[in-house]
Amino acid sequence: MNFFITGGSRGIGAGIVLEAVRAGHDVAFTYVRNEAAAAKVIARAKEIRPDAKVQSYALDVADASAVERVGDAVIDDFENVEVVVNCAGVNADNLLVSMDNAEWDKVIATNLSGPFYVCRHFVQHMMSNRFGRIINVSSVIFDGGSGQSNYAASKAGLHGLTKSIAKEYGRRGITANVLVPGFFDTDMTRESMPEQAKAYWKQYCPVPKGRMGTVEEFGKITVFLASRDAAFINGQVIPVTGGLDYST
Ligand SMILES: NC(=O)c1ccc[n+]([C@@H]2O[C@H](COP(=O)([O-])OP(=O)(O)OC[C@H]3O[C@@H](n4cnc5c(N)ncnc54)[C@H](OP(=O)(O)O)[C@@H]3O)[C@@H](O)[C@H]2O)c1
Repeated sequence: MNFFITGGSRGIGAGIVLEAVRAGHDVAFTYVRNEAAAAKVIARAKEIRPDAKVQSYALDVADASAVERVGDAVIDDFENVEVVVNCAGVNADNLLVSMDNAEWDKVIATNLSGPFYVCRHFVQHMMSNRFGRIINVSSVIFDGGSGQSNYAASKAGLHGLTKSIAKEYGRRGITANVLVPGFFDTDMTRESMPEQAKAYWKQYCPVPKGRMGTVEEFGKITVFLASRDAAFINGQVIPVTGGLDYST
């Protein structure tokens, strides 16, 4: 199948690109600024499967007309897109009383409006195939996080968006689900997760040796959810947390 993955240049998104390639799929993925990181992901993908078709596209998902333009280009280049993964995401943490409009708007625009633009574009395409998989990447913070009202609101909104798509288009063979990552070692958590929160995670996550997740295991779960075998999973919010549904 052909995947379209936003935010595939780094972290969890890059893990999904590489696992999709490993499983025999072709992948279009996006980055917003980091072309060099995107090139490294393509090089690694070619090592994994030299005949894989893997292409990157520069895209700010918060820009509705850019989503239309890049979405059209991807469908031209790949002919068919069966799987869409909205993984691009940002945070801009601040206490509510100190949060400025720009911090609020940026996070909502990237994490919630972006997936809306992307889903609107690709669901139209999937409808003509009567098959599709939408996988939206949330966070345990969807349930509320101190200093993260913008981020929590964006992810909770993503759940509503996803479940609505599941209900509107399930009958046409399109499933839409949310994956909720716990703690994964990526630039986002390296830069903004407090050391105390990381220590708490490692102490209490109920898996052997209390560890964070790997982007490879997140990628493999995504690939399963994208498969035809996952047809009866629709409109669900699925934690990938090792069992610690932690929220500050
Ligand atoms: N890491 C975790 O433990 C964790 C936990 C909970 C939820 N999540 C969620 O998982 C997803 C991936 O997180 P991550 O930790 O892998 O993040 P990351 O390492 O910071 O990578 C972010 C990715 O999103 C892209 N991106 C950022 N802003 C964008 C925009 N406006 N338009 C398009 N692409 C954009 C980046 O592109 P460039 O490379 O060009 O900058 C990069 O590919 C996010 O939705 C995040 O909220 C992560």
